Amino acid sequence: MEAKDVAAQEAVKLVKDGMIVGLGSGSTAAYAIKRIGERMHQEGLKICGVPTSSVTNQLAAELGIPLVDIRDPSRVDLTIDGADEVDPGLCLIKGGGGALVREKLVAAASNEVVIICDESKMKARLGAFPLPVSVVPFAWQSTLTRLREVCPAITLRQTPGGTDPYITDDGCYILDMHLGVIEHPSVLEQQVKSITGVVDVGLFVGLATRIIVGHADGSTVHYLK
Ligand code: 5RP
Repeated sequence: MEAKDVAAQEAVKLVKDGMIVGLGSGSTAAYAIKRIGERMHQEGLKICGVPTSSVTNQLAAELGIPLVDIRDPSRVDLTIDGADEVDPGLCLIKGGGGALVREKLVAAASNEVVIICDESKMKARLGAFPLPVSVVPFAWQSTLTRLREVCPAITLRQTPGGTDPYITDDGCYILDMHLGVIEHPSVLEQQVKSITGVVDVGLFVGLATRIIVGHADGSTVHYLK
């Protein structure tokens, strides 16, 4: 069985009737959204979803999951999302799919944030995966120059064809920081966020409350905050 789906099935057991559920983005989160759809149809589970990207919005709508906007910051009961890297302190790198701003807003509004992944995402230290930074397109080159003082190796994310800048659901560009190792995630998060033109950075510190790692043999390991 696909390890990502094993983690997704385990996480979806935490979803209860009447919950408002944050729906993450990426291939692992998509497994969870499909499993929520199954439970709705098979068991009559009733939930409302808060999508973290237009792709997730479309998938949830296709599965008949009712969707709501966040109005009250504590209204999201449980969010299930994936990650690009997870460290032992439950800090994350997210945004490989470009949805980091909405993902962080939904996570910050959630009582519980469950991150699902396979073993390959677990790292002793974050930073091998390029750290995404969402920036306003206006004057993005000057934002890039300031970010280069933090990390000289930084690239503008391109569309899959490689000819145009990738544009997020919120109309931002993504700059990927190639750091290698991140010594102090919370310090770096604040340092990057303080730069004018930065909307947010894909470092999630203190947001995840549970990590569920799935294995192909059907077993899971939980890490709690
Ligand atoms: C999207 C994300 C995803 O959660 C992250 O990229 C993991 O994706 P996948 O489950 O496909 O490996 O942060 O912005």
